[in-house]
Amino acid sequence: MTEPNKKCRLVVLISGRGSNMQSIVETIKNKQLHAEVVAVIANKAEAKGIQWAQEQGIATQVLEHKQFADRSSFDARLAQIVQQYQPDYVLLAGFMRILTPEFVQQFTGRLINIHPSLLPLFPGLNTHQQAIDAELQWHGCTVHFVTPVLDHGPIIAQGIVPVHHDDDADTLAHRLLTIEHRVFNQVVEWLAQDRVQLLETGRVQVLDTSHRAFVA
Ligand code: GRF
Repeated sequence: MTEPNKKCRLVVLISGRGSNMQSIVETIKNKQLHAEVVAVIANKAEAKGIQWAQEQGIATQVLEHKQFADRSSFDARLAQIVQQYQPDYVLLAGFMRILTPEFVQQFTGRLINIHPSLLPLFPGLNTHQQAIDAELQWHGCTVHFVTPVLDHGPIIAQGIVPVHHDDDADTLAHRLLTIEHRVFNQVVEWLAQDRVQLLETGRVQVLDTSHRAFVA
């Protein structure tokens, strides 16, 4: 996807805290990955991650979905803004908005999401409570290519953590976050190395790796 010697350009979309985005920015810096977060965009002015990104000198934008009459006009403007940064990949890192098929199709093969469950289990919200209620002993996260179907798309990597008998949704979410960062960072490293391929069959291939599973 990226030309040799050209840094892999990443635009990151967030809605809140932005800890996944922060760990990606720090990993790129510490591991000197051939990638750059060229912009962080939030759909909420109060998204904490925006301030952090600004402090790092990263371009930021807030596009409040509340200001738009409907989902498609918000998505059309968001797509315009994202395109201005000419990203190789757009990362959804805690971006809590359902994107329209029109948006998703503009970025086919370049739009990547992290979801806090072992997909195809528990698409949507409240994944931690659902894992507890189902008495699962393992919970996980999935980094996947985005398709027009919510939380459903070719899986790039997954990570798992144990569920403890006294967990509530918060303690489980907290434990999972560490592995979320690890899995997303690993995927970014693969992207920077141009090793992630979305095949015509709809399956994912990552060159030169034997596993795409991570355990806390
Ligand atoms: C993460 O758990 C992510 O999987 C989910 O929202 C949370 C965002 O956390 N989609 P953060 O904003 O990256 O800290």
